[in-house]
Amino acid sequence: AEAQPEVETDVEIDAEVETLEEGVLQICSDVPYPPFEYYDADGNVVGFDIDIATAISDALGLELEIIESSWDGIESGVALNAEDCDLAISGMTITEERAGNMLFSEPYLDDNLGLLATADSGISSTDDLEDIPVGVQAATTGHDYAEEELGLDVTQYEDSGLMLQGLDAGQVDAIVGNISIIGYQAGDDERFEFVEEIDTGEQLGIAAQLENQDLIDAVDEILAELDSSSALEEIEDAWFRS
Ligand code: ARG
Repeated sequence: AEAQPEVETDVEIDAEVETLEEGVLQICSDVPYPPFEYYDADGNVVGFDIDIATAISDALGLELEIIESSWDGIESGVALNAEDCDLAISGMTITEERAGNMLFSEPYLDDNLGLLATADSGISSTDDLEDIPVGVQAATTGHDYAEEELGLDVTQYEDSGLMLQGLDAGQVDAIVGNISIIGYQAGDDERFEFVEEIDTGEQLGIAAQLENQDLIDAVDEILAELDSSSALEEIEDAWFRS
């Protein structure tokens, strides 16, 4: 998982956008959430989202500053609305509730949920989870699904790193989270076993403050160009398929 692909993206747009700090695009992200945003061996924040963020800031001629924020602050819109950042990129699913607090771009990736268990757990589907300790990252779509659809009493982790450590340490026997990170972990680590995909049809978006339509329009334009030039697909392949 030390892959650090170099993907060339030369999108150019000439949009006028206002940023919080002149010349800088400040983007909030909740790290670690591999392979979207995590620390490489040298302690740099890297990942799929970071490549997208870089392409956006390059296209706007702005310097990129990644601001590490809590997931809670990001998904509630507090990080954006307190003006900590111009955009939030964090593998975030577009939901109606969130769209009341922030403006979303067009989707940049499709996602589903999945169930990841320890290799020796004997869990073979979501039906086996009753009375089993199950972990989630708090305030995520996986959290909602586990409580509301599966009726589970879950252990909540503040971030995905802690959630994966909890699974590894045997605090929980399984976790419900997005397939994009679960598949990545399972492929990487034989202590974990990918059990089941849960088809929730999620779409991930980049978010801005409700009043920052200009910036979201520019992001959409850049995403469309990345898509038509296949750069988006290249970035995706680089981080999600080995
Ligand atoms: N896609 C899920 C959601 O939006 C989880 C995202 C978690 N992202 C993160 N960087 N921790 O609820």
